[in-house]
Amino acid sequence: MRQMTLVGFLQAQNCTNFVGSWRHPLARQDFTGAEYYRRIGRALEAGKFHMGFYDDRLAMPDLFGGDHAHTVANGIRCVKMDPIVILTAMGMATERLGLGATFSTTYSEPFHVARVFATLDLITGGRAAWNIVTSMNDAEALNMGHTAHGEHDLRYDRADEFLEVVMGHWDSWEDGAIVADRGTGLFAHPEKVHRLDHKGAFFQSRGPFTVPRSEQGHPVLIQAGQSGRGQRFAARWAECVFVAYHGLAQARRDYASFKAQVEAAGRDPDKTFVCPGIYTVVAGTRAEAEDHAAVIDTLPKEIDSLSLLSEIMNFDFSQQPIDLAFTDDQLDSWTGAQGMRDRIKRELGGRLPTPRDFIAITRRGTFHDHPRFVGSPRDVADGMEEWFATGACDGFVVAASHVPGAYEDFSRLVVPELQRRGLFHNDYTGATLRENLGLVRPAPGTWR
Ligand SMILES: Cc1cc2nc3c(=O)[nH]c(=O)nc-3n(C[C@H](O)[C@H](O)[C@H](O)COP(=O)(O)O)c2cc1C
Repeated sequence: MRQMTLVGFLQAQNCTNFVGSWRHPLARQDFTGAEYYRRIGRALEAGKFHMGFYDDRLAMPDLFGGDHAHTVANGIRCVKMDPIVILTAMGMATERLGLGATFSTTYSEPFHVARVFATLDLITGGRAAWNIVTSMNDAEALNMGHTAHGEHDLRYDRADEFLEVVMGHWDSWEDGAIVADRGTGLFAHPEKVHRLDHKGAFFQSRGPFTVPRSEQGHPVLIQAGQSGRGQRFAARWAECVFVAYHGLAQARRDYASFKAQVEAAGRDPDKTFVCPGIYTVVAGTRAEAEDHAAVIDTLPKEIDSLSLLSEIMNFDFSQQPIDLAFTDDQLDSWTGAQGMRDRIKRELGGRLPTPRDFIAITRRGTFHDHPRFVGSPRDVADGMEEWFATGACDGFVVAASHVPGAYEDFSRLVVPELQRRGLFHNDYTGATLRENLGLVRPAPGTWR
């Protein structure tokens, strides 16, 4: 029986994906210490989650009003620590949990990214995954030696070549290269370690690579592009695809169309797991869960929404009166997340959106900007089952109202109900992330 993939949507910051989470009465505030992350990892592993994955951004969300005072004062994701370091701490506190982190192809070098993830993969026994992003906005550009964020589709062209370099390096140590034979004095077979000698439009990288191949071959690839170009990139490379779906009908349509793209790219659509972000609030009874959700809904502020919209669209929303419609020229010139912009235009038909429309439709900054399932364990499992069993997804990226409590509740209450229904594995079946996802260990060069 087909079973769902579950991923925890994690942040190395002062709040979860939901900014208001730090204002939650049960939120832990020790997010600068290792135990905070170890405890989240243990909660996910108790629930047999396939993976915990850290998102990332290379800047504070300070585009709104061109200043960071509101960001810091309101705790709008103003702390953002290095996800690889945090993931290492989490990896040392867990045995089977997959460990994903985000790294940008726009603001890094392929050799560096290949080495970081290959190292993580080796020291965690083959549990690493890389969420490939092309980054979002000018604030990131300004932190990383550029004057502005690059053009959208060009970033994905660069990302394609970036992946060719990373995969090339990951393939360059053959299995069994190291013998470490003291008797003969041979450490590794020279003919089994290859140089890449890549020279392309965006990158040059010679090699040889300095990290041997891991138990799972190489880290699992994740991607979350929503635009046409982003989906084309994901169809070519991604093994897990994180998506923002907003309703069942749209999810089924987009899921089917994305799977067709994977097939057209010559890959097996059943081995590419599409996981929408969701929110859950679960308690022993539906009434209790609804009370808790009502408390959560008191936590967001309007400034959270405006700040995060500015960040993701790469446009300062303070420049536009809240009820004045944007022009086509304005919308077309944005270099941020085009999938979100296009969805708003679609939903409004012919009418041009105002900032208030962006807030109302995206609900960004609230605990409603992903589908949410609130209720008893059966209610939440019913909602997830409906999506999973009716062609809308292969699993979920579960975001938290607060940590670690939301994951402890989910693992204790929802997971056993999903398992009882046969919708979710009872235990990890392998040692590596790839084994637990049911993916084969890739032979070198199969991606070409
Ligand atoms: C669940 C999920 C997680 C994401 N995590 C990140 C992230 O950590 N960092 C980032 O820059 N973008 C992240 N994104 C954004 C995507 O990488 C992508 O830029 C966005 O969906 C817009 O798509 P497009 O670039 O194809 O227009 C995420 C998207 C989703 C749906």
